[in-house]
Amino acid sequence: MKLPHQKGMVIWLMGLSGAGKSTISNLFEEQLNESGFFSMQLDGDEMRKGLNYNLGFSMDDRAENIRRAAETAKIIASNGVIVTCSFITPLNAHREMAKNILGDLYFEVFIDCPIDVCEQRDVKGLYEQAHNNTLKNFTGVSSAFERPTDPDLILYTANSTVQQCCNELHDAVKNRITDH
Ligand code: PPS
Ligand code: ADP
Repeated sequence: MKLPHQKGMVIWLMGLSGAGKSTISNLFEEQLNESGFFSMQLDGDEMRKGLNYNLGFSMDDRAENIRRAAETAKIIASNGVIVTCSFITPLNAHREMAKNILGDLYFEVFIDCPIDVCEQRDVKGLYEQAHNNTLKNFTGVSSAFERPTDPDLILYTANSTVQQCCNELHDAVKNRITDH
C-alpha cells in the first residue's frame, strides 16, 4: 500500500506517567487526520490490555513491551502510516532497542515534565498509590527513569499548552511526513 502525499514514520513519545504523552498524541493525531494525513496511535496502557496483557513492570517486562510495540509500529509505518507511540520507555537501553528496530523510521520525543508536576497532576491516582506502597515498581518513585541523552525533540509540558507542544512537534516532523 502507498498512501498519497505522506511518508510513514514512528514518533516515539517517552516520559514519566502524567508528563503528557497521551494528551499530546491524541491532539496531534486529531490534527494530522484533519489535515488529510493518516495516522495511528500505539499506547502503553492500551497495548498492555491486549497484545502485551502478560507483561508487568519489571525492567525485563518493560523491555519486552517496548520491543513488541516497536515491531508493531514498524509494520504499520512501513505501510506509509504515521504512528505515534506513547510509552514511558524508562531506560536508555529501551530507547536504543526501539531505535535499532525502527532505524530511519524512528523519531524520539522526550515529553519533559518535572516529577513534582506529574505528582500534582496525578491523572490516574497512581502516584498516590506508589507513595502508599500499594503500587510497586512505579516509574520515578520506586523504579528508574533515566533522562534521555539525545532525543530528536524535547517538549516541556509544565509551562506550555498542549496546542503549543503539538505545534512544535508538527514543525519538527512536517518535512519527514510529506512525500514531495
Ligand atoms: S513502559 O515502562 O514503557 O513499559 O510502560 P508503558 O507501557 O508506557 O505503561 C505505562 C502505563 O502503565 C500504568 N502503570 C504503570 N506505569 C509505571 N509504573 C508502574 N508500576 C505502573 N503500573 C501501571 C500507567 O497508567 C502508565 O501509563 P501513563 O500513560 O504513562 O500514565
Ligand atoms: P501520560 O500519557 O504521559 O501519562 P497524560 O496525557 O495522561 O500523561 O496526562 C497529562 C496531563 O497533563 C493531562 O491532564 C493534561 O491535560 C495535562 N497537561 C497540561 N499541560 C500539558 C501539555 N503541555 N501537554 C500535555 N499535557 C498537558
